[in-house]
Amino acid sequence: MKTYWANLKSFTGLATAALFAIVATARSADTNDTLKDAFKSCFMIGVALNQRQFTEKDTNGATLVKRHFNSISPENVMKWESIHPRPGPEGYNFEAADRYVEFGEKNGMYIVGHTLVWHSQTPRWVFQGEGTNAVTREELLNRMRDHIHTVVGRYKGRIKAWDVVNEALNDDGSLRRSPWYRIIGEDYIAKAFEYAHEADPAAELRYNDYSIENEPKRNGVIALVKKLQAQKVPISGLGSQAHANLTWPGAELLDSALTAFADLGIPISITELDVNAAETGQRSQSADVSQNAQAGGGGVADDANQKLADQYASLFRVFLKHRQNIKLVTFWGVTDRDSWRRFGKPLLFDAQCQPKRAFDAVIAETKKVPTTQSKPIGQ
Ligand code: GLA
Repeated sequence: MKTYWANLKSFTGLATAALFAIVATARSADTNDTLKDAFKSCFMIGVALNQRQFTEKDTNGATLVKRHFNSISPENVMKWESIHPRPGPEGYNFEAADRYVEFGEKNGMYIVGHTLVWHSQTPRWVFQGEGTNAVTREELLNRMRDHIHTVVGRYKGRIKAWDVVNEALNDDGSLRRSPWYRIIGEDYIAKAFEYAHEADPAAELRYNDYSIENEPKRNGVIALVKKLQAQKVPISGLGSQAHANLTWPGAELLDSALTAFADLGIPISITELDVNAAETGQRSQSADVSQNAQAGGGGVADDANQKLADQYASLFRVFLKHRQNIKLVTFWGVTDRDSWRRFGKPLLFDAQCQPKRAFDAVIAETKKVPTTQSKPIGQ
């Protein structure tokens, strides 16, 4: 009798544990849910593509892109070192960039260009003058104008938004002493926007940066944009990269930043969203490429999948609250396998292209949005 009860008890225990395991791993999102449909009344959902995806060599990746996203950004192929590796008219290489744009057009996507003026992934010759001297201000402005006119002009009317200037600010909100700043002076930013506007007057022209939720940098961005606006510089969008981690930015910080940005009167795009779940990724809030690229060798944080889902839910709750001012939310990569922070497993799809718990959490947030308060897409 005793054994019967003991067996029954252990059977019940096992059954309960199994049930919990099923509940814990069960997917809450419907297999028919897609990101772009779930958000269609709120904002567009974009993704950064590598070459294997837009040439469809990575067939699973390309399938996922077409199914879930209605906007694309080029991860690398439009950076200066890729599209304009050598000086002179023969120094341009449009092969990959052309394929990227064709992929977007074929699939009816909103196509973003990234990026025109940045201190990183720009070849050394750009800043070199005669002999060992730095190039003159005049000549660097000529090179910048030629680059912007050639690249933006080639895709005029097809690329709808450009990250014109990337990462011009330091964490304290002051201007970064980049070669652009040192050689041209602070008006290099205004000039870049003016040249881009000459090349395509209809394109949205964004200033794009990371960690701009933090107050000192947030104030720096706001001051910069206001100054450009007062000078009638054609800046028409703000990009917040949003390279997040499991606790940063918190909901309050993000909410107050988005409230402050809304005052600028230009659309906000979240341009490079990912959430670093690597243990070593929790201390730094910097997305500086020089420090961060492959950081995270120490493995992912405990219970990373659930923490990732919680942070994604928190971020999207705030994005959805600000949906009137947010035009586009772009993920920086399709799956964890493709990510620049792949050790941190930072995206919604795992290395096997399967949706993670974070995917369900993001879809669940859209179901809480009152349907009467939607807005036309892209506005
Ligand atoms: C910055 C750039 C992106 C990309 C990431 C890291 O955020 O804007 O183009 O290089 O760094 O991959």
